[in-house]
Amino acid sequence: MPLLGLGTWQARGRDARDAVRTALEVGYRLVDTATIYGNERQVGAALAESAVPREDVFVTTKLPQGNAGRERATLEESLEALGLDYVDLWLIHWPPGGRARPDVWERLLELQADGLAREVGVSNYSLGQIDELEQATRRLPAVNQVEWSPALFDREVLDGHRRRGVQLEGYSPLRQTNLRDPRLVRVAEAHGVTPAQAVLRWHVEHRIVAIPKSTNAERIAENAAIFDLRLTASEVEELDALAERH
Ligand code: A2P
Repeated sequence: MPLLGLGTWQARGRDARDAVRTALEVGYRLVDTATIYGNERQVGAALAESAVPREDVFVTTKLPQGNAGRERATLEESLEALGLDYVDLWLIHWPPGGRARPDVWERLLELQADGLAREVGVSNYSLGQIDELEQATRRLPAVNQVEWSPALFDREVLDGHRRRGVQLEGYSPLRQTNLRDPRLVRVAEAHGVTPAQAVLRWHVEHRIVAIPKSTNAERIAENAAIFDLRLTASEVEELDALAERH
């Protein structure tokens, strides 16, 4: 799974299609969508018109919690909209009704076994809810996608995922962070990068998948230009500390 992807929440219509096309052109190989984003058709159109081969792109979509019980039909509708035979990752978007629902998880595992999703996982689950799934089925989700950023950094949550072997994927990496925070600006300036780039690189240093959303071509490119950048251990710790006030 690539460590950086394009988020598409709130990207609609032509904007969504252009954003995904631009992202693939500038080197993104992970695209994150969801049934409830209402843009799978546009994401699919951009994938189809891209020169990047299907197998080189990691495509994620998600089961709306209200579609629990309609898993197969929902995934088939997503695949039809995306124009794909399989997704790389299918997630339960939220714990349905606030509960872990091992029965729903069981059906995701069946769809994975049928080849419709290469990997399956969850989103917005607590570690306790992940443990419930594991206890009921002996199978852990490959990924848990949760809101994550320096301002939301939580060492226990990060370590808990690592111990279980569940990949943490962070959504809204930029939205919750004050990009003008002087401590962040200092780290960014030391490397001649933007605060947004420092935040995204911080995710990579922690081996957390980041999926910044942008529909602006310049920012899409800016957000991916982080692989020549290395933060020192003390800079990573300084950014971890941005969570202290929360
Ligand atoms: P835009 O789509 O106009 O670029 P998140 O992924 O954390 O939810 O953040 C998305 C928000 O951050 C969007 O409003 C997006 O706006 C903006 N954004 C994306 N990339 C950057 C960047 N490099 N610098 C500043 N803002 C950004």
